[in-house]
Amino acid sequence: MSQHPDAPGAGSDTPNLDFAGTTPYEDYVQADVLTHLQHTLSDDPGEMVFLVTTQVMELWFTVIVHEWETAAKALGEDDLRVATDALKRSLRQLEALNASWRPLAHLTPAQFNSYRSALGEGSGFQSAMYRRMEFLLGDKSASMLVPHRGAPRVYAELEKALHEPSLYDETLRLLARRGLPVPASVLNRDLSQKYEPSAEVEAVWTELYQGDQNHELVRLGELLTDVGELVWRWRNDHLVATRRAMGSKVGTGGSAGVAWLEKRATKNVFPELWTARSHV
Ligand code: HEM
Repeated sequence: MSQHPDAPGAGSDTPNLDFAGTTPYEDYVQADVLTHLQHTLSDDPGEMVFLVTTQVMELWFTVIVHEWETAAKALGEDDLRVATDALKRSLRQLEALNASWRPLAHLTPAQFNSYRSALGEGSGFQSAMYRRMEFLLGDKSASMLVPHRGAPRVYAELEKALHEPSLYDETLRLLARRGLPVPASVLNRDLSQKYEPSAEVEAVWTELYQGDQNHELVRLGELLTDVGELVWRWRNDHLVATRRAMGSKVGTGGSAGVAWLEKRATKNVFPELWTARSHV
């Protein structure tokens, strides 16, 4: 008897259709969980893409944090190959993260207003995973833990991240171990504080950048500069999308909105990697 070509076991070139329980794909991906987390708060059909884009960005933040934690640990172990691989992967992920602004980049105020009030005081400012990204970049702040007091797991993860060396701390420690004159005040800094630029560190990068452009530490510097540039682009895309969607109104999180984001967007990630360029 001939079998329908789509029937289970119809031929070796046909995917298996018959599973005792849930599919192995579902067991691995948990797509059923993932695709039922979209609890919109308004009746506006445009809210779905706002919520999903935010969730997609949260997932990219999670992957990028994973890569940067991998890179920071590897730098601490002088394993430049593992660190470089993780940083390179994170660049492609940052590009994908930034591309995910597209569906929200052209919201009009009226479109955004259709669900904005339903968000209440909810704001991306309260994203713990974004804060962990900033901590890994060296932008530490204990006060950023305060909104998360009501969520013990999130709070514990953030508190741990606050006290751990950032990607940049590990980079500067590596430069010191390679004999470069990174000052002790930078190496022994209070890790829970925001990294402050140092003239001596700027001089170290200047010296490196004046030398062999193929030196592995110059290549590391360039990878970190790429990271800094893509983070800056995310902040600017966010700023422009916000300006289009709500002008200069105050944010749902209570900030001055665009004016506050503008200040945040001017911060340099890995500051001396940018300022050293003026001296090379
Ligand atoms: C067009 C839609 C959006 C608008 C109008 C908007 C608006 C704002 C505003 C006004 C702030 C300042 C804090 C406040 O008062 O709320 C903010 C912060 C923030 N938003 Fe958005 N946002 C949008 C989309 C997103 C999306 C999709 C994400 C992804 C997770 C996001 C993540 C963040 C983060 C992480 C901050 C904190 C930035 C920092 O600490 O420097 N936003 N947003």
